[in-house]
Amino acid sequence: MGPLLGVLALAALLSPGRACPAPCSCSPKKNGRLLAECAYRELRDVPRGLSPNVTILTLSANRLGRLGRAALAEVPELQSLWLGYNHISAVEPGAFAALPHLKNLDLSHNRLADFPWQDLRNLSALQILKLSNNRLGAVPRGALAGLRQLRSLWLNDNELATLARGTFEGLPALAQLQLFHNPFNCSCKLFWLKEWAHGTSVVISRAGSTLCAAPARLRGRPVTDIPGELCVPPSAQLTYLSGPGDGLTLTLHCSVAGSPPPEIRWRIRTAARRLDIHGPTVARDGGAKAGRRRVLAFKNGTVAIPDFGKEDEGTYTCLAVNDVGERDVSVNVALAGSANPAAEELPRDDPQAGQPGGHRCSKGDELDPSGMGEKLVIVYRLPGEARSGAGARQFRLGILPLALGLLLW
Ligand SMILES: *[C@@H]1O[C@H](CO)[C@@H](O)[C@H](O)[C@H]1NC(C)=O
Ligand SMILES: *[C@@H]1O[C@H](CO)[C@@H](O)[C@H](O)[C@H]1NC(C)=O
Ligand SMILES: *[C@@H]1O[C@H](CO)[C@@H](O)[C@H](O)[C@H]1NC(C)=O
Ligand SMILES: *[C@@H]1O[C@H](CO)[C@@H](O)[C@H](O)[C@H]1NC(C)=O
Repeated sequence: MGPLLGVLALAALLSPGRACPAPCSCSPKKNGRLLAECAYRELRDVPRGLSPNVTILTLSANRLGRLGRAALAEVPELQSLWLGYNHISAVEPGAFAALPHLKNLDLSHNRLADFPWQDLRNLSALQILKLSNNRLGAVPRGALAGLRQLRSLWLNDNELATLARGTFEGLPALAQLQLFHNPFNCSCKLFWLKEWAHGTSVVISRAGSTLCAAPARLRGRPVTDIPGELCVPPSAQLTYLSGPGDGLTLTLHCSVAGSPPPEIRWRIRTAARRLDIHGPTVARDGGAKAGRRRVLAFKNGTVAIPDFGKEDEGTYTCLAVNDVGERDVSVNVALAGSANPAAEELPRDDPQAGQPGGHRCSKGDELDPSGMGEKLVIVYRLPGEARSGAGARQFRLGILPLALGLLLW
């Protein structure tokens, strides 16, 4: 069969008209469209010699195994490409990118474990994408973004265990989605899908057959039924821990809740540096180098900056992250010292400013009761006596938090 087809293809290539390769039959359609019908021909490759005017190409039920980058280069006007029921296991990136008018792409019932997702960026006219009955194990984050005409998406009968949050965002025309028969892992990473499914107007075909394969206790349960109490988005609260006896150490504590238990990260932004701390760490390298100070981040959610100075002023943000979501809460920390006369002029008996000794921001004071991420300010003031008396490094009781809890916005 192979050699015969080769001869046919060659014949097509050499034939004078070159409008329709021998294995296919071509016929004009309404609106000047041209159909090339090449289905059920046992073809192993896309036939050569297609007219550049072909707008509909059916290659379904052949034996195509691989699509090279240039496989469709002859037909840049394609609007519909039917490739279902082949043996396609690989598509070289770029094969579809040159088809900017493509509206319908059917690759269902093939052997694709991967897909050139980046090609979709060029397919802004795409309305129907059928990738069902393949071996796809993942849809990369953002892969579908930009398909503003996409109405129907078939991803059923693949090997998808999870989908990234937001996979179906940015698809304003999406009306129908098929996800059933995938081995979904209903961990909290997939919880967004349940919430999205409940809120969207997209019709999810056979949602009742879109089932969890894992974990064991949820096996066989629809994805839209993942129990809410298992997956709780993080909440975070920032409290101020420094007090007399801590010297010039700024100590903040971030207490978090959620399910699964959130991981705590810190984001520190000062004029001179940007520091991101993922997980507990005790930074090396003490105060030796100017501008680089030790930040001690403990596993329990406490962060301490010893020898807090002007260069440490900035925004301290605690991020609580789990599979369901992320929450952040920030505090601005400023130091009122001789270098900052304006801050020093804050009235001492301002009720907002608190008593000498810092009662208003005593240990454990909550900086962000709502946990909604408003920014608050702590202004420290170096007490005059200490400044005039002892050396700068000896304020054992040195920091008087002067004003706390000024809501900025
Ligand atoms: C393609 O279409 C154009 C205009 O519709 C026509 O002039 C041209 O001959 C066609 N080309 C082929 C190879 O059929
Ligand atoms: C895909 O789109 C990009 C950006 O619009 C363009 O530069 C590129 O040439 C296109 N690719 C093909 C194969 O047409
Ligand atoms: C499901 O996902 C969770 C969280 O990502 C992971 O820990 C677990 O190993 C996965 N289970 C299976 C069966 O893949
Ligand atoms: C967290 O651990 C550090 C170091 O062990 C300790 O200094 C701090 O007080 C702890 N924080 C809380 C809120 O218990």
